[in-house]
Amino acid sequence: GAPVTVDISAIEPGQKVTYAWRSLPVFVVNRTKEQLAQLKGLEPRLLDPMSSDADQQPKYATNETRSIKPEWLVVVGLCTHLGCVPDFVPDIKPEPFDANWKGGFYCPCHKSRYDLSGRVFSGVPAPKNLPVPPYHFVDDTHIQIG
Ligand code: FES
Repeated sequence: GAPVTVDISAIEPGQKVTYAWRSLPVFVVNRTKEQLAQLKGLEPRLLDPMSSDADQQPKYATNETRSIKPEWLVVVGLCTHLGCVPDFVPDIKPEPFDANWKGGFYCPCHKSRYDLSGRVFSGVPAPKNLPVPPYHFVDDTHIQIG
């Protein structure tokens, strides 16, 4: 599949937009400072908090935010369990999860959840973090995926 270039200039802070790349849904999220600040405290509850699995992201996204620029998350929106498309839940607390849920991505098929970096929580069916596809910034407002 060919790379796609997308205009991210209209994505508001806290918002997610889904693009198609190679027939896959790719989520692009403009994370707020508050959302970024929450990521660190989650580490003890995550299966792979440091993105140690090199298959799940390029080297340039092997960092705390799993991204090139901290605010911009780019992930393939397919649950690593059986491939359902997770819901974007930036703020709410899906029942029956605990009150420490900070939001992220929630898979309705078998209740896997991920944080706002696509890092999977421990104790859910999904075995891996959401994959980060290859991408780069063409300029401040355009990302090329692929
Ligand atoms: Fe997402 Fe099973 S496909 S939890």
